[in-house]
Amino acid sequence: MSADATLQPLLDALKFSPDNLPLRQHLGGLLRQTGQPQPAEDLYREGLRYHPTDPTLQLGLADAYFALGKTSAAFVVVEELLGQHDDLGPAHLLHARLLHASQQPDAAREAYAQALRLDPGLADTTLANELQANAPRRVPASGPAPGFGEPASPAAPALLGLEKPRITFQDVGGMEAVKEEIRLKIIHPLHFPDLYKAFGKASGGGLLLYGPPGCGKTYLARATAGEVQANFLSVGIAEILDMWLGNSEKNLHQLFELARAQAPCVLFFDEVDALAANRHDLRQSAGRTVINQFLEELDGVSASNEGVLIMAATNAPWHLDPAFRRPGRFDKITLVTPPDEGARASILEILLKGKPLAPDVKPAAVAARTAGLSGADLKAVVDGAVDTRLRLSMRAGRPLPIEQSDLLDAAKLVKPSTKEWFATARNYALYSNEGGLYDEILVYLGVKKPGGL
Ligand SMILES: Nc1ncnc2c1ncn2[C@@H]1O[C@H](COP(=O)(O)OP(=O)(O)OP(=O)(O)O)[C@@H](O)[C@H]1O
Ligand SMILES: [Mg+2]
Repeated sequence: MSADATLQPLLDALKFSPDNLPLRQHLGGLLRQTGQPQPAEDLYREGLRYHPTDPTLQLGLADAYFALGKTSAAFVVVEELLGQHDDLGPAHLLHARLLHASQQPDAAREAYAQALRLDPGLADTTLANELQANAPRRVPASGPAPGFGEPASPAAPALLGLEKPRITFQDVGGMEAVKEEIRLKIIHPLHFPDLYKAFGKASGGGLLLYGPPGCGKTYLARATAGEVQANFLSVGIAEILDMWLGNSEKNLHQLFELARAQAPCVLFFDEVDALAANRHDLRQSAGRTVINQFLEELDGVSASNEGVLIMAATNAPWHLDPAFRRPGRFDKITLVTPPDEGARASILEILLKGKPLAPDVKPAAVAARTAGLSGADLKAVVDGAVDTRLRLSMRAGRPLPIEQSDLLDAAKLVKPSTKEWFATARNYALYSNEGGLYDEILVYLGVKKPGGL
């Protein structure tokens, strides 16, 4: 072993106690950090004789092999490691690097996505950009974007929820019109890009969902990703702005870059009004530069957004800067109303799944008696019924199943939480309804006939 002299005392110490695992792990890390893969390899191989199944040593060895160009040896070790510890983010990351180095771009992207799912802090912009560069269905970027290739700020990815949702439109009760809208605007362009191009319709732009709280906007966005088997990257705008005052532009750029690297991907901005607050509302406004950066990313100025489905949700679309609604941006905004009867029944079914139920429980009958309640309100109903039964079970000293009357009684106590929202929305729709933007609200409230004037 020929490590540099500064580490010699530690290496000597290890020679005296070769089974000192923490010391060996530490020293291996130091050797790798200081670019000494050969002594690192020796150290890890020796260590594995004492601790043959230690994942840190295995990962270290694979990493040292990789650095030495011993790719197939590295593959063997890392794949064996993943066979035992599928939940090790850094192992998936190394796997991604190996797959990338051996020209297996699809598998590399999948491995990278898995690493980020397990630990968003592992984001590696350089790797992500390289993976993106040879991603299928992507137009090569015309040139490096600002901040391109810079390391991600360490806090940035930690806030990102990257996942591969399992729920699809089937799990979303009702909402047929909104689903159709999403299919037209987002899903078909993804599946038939050539057809859309032939008709001169650019894919891209985003879909803005708005509506009262608790009615499934976030849930629907996640289901959209599941529907097209895409990754789902969910971003809370307020958090981004709070976290990195002054650094938000770069973070926004990196976010879009991450989504592009994960394509197909649904990039979802929750509570987008926090970012896009109207210029007049200075206190809440994120500032012009951030808004401009967001619009630029949305327009795909620095890199194409092909394969990235951009969605956003808000309770207060009237606070959005009108620049957001220009063609190719959030030019279509869609109202997500409280669930109708069918949707309430399926939401109740989902909420009651796995709970002890008496044979008389009929979600459909509860749905018929809970007009106006949101998904979140229905959750309050079920929670109330559970509380009642728990109390009775305690008294009886044995578990008693939930009965229909528990649900109906609980429903009487829950007030529709969407009323207040509609009161506000009605005012905007009546008095600030440029271009019929909020007609859907008036139709829903029965003020206006569908399609009428
Ligand atoms: N149509 C639906 N089908 C099935 N479940 C639903 C539906 N609508 C709402 N839910 C349930 O209600 C919960 C609350 O919905 P969600 O968080 O998506 O509301 P939201 O519109 O994003 O609210 P907010 O504006 O407060 O963010 C969901 O987690 C889901 O379980
Ligand atoms: Mg939400």
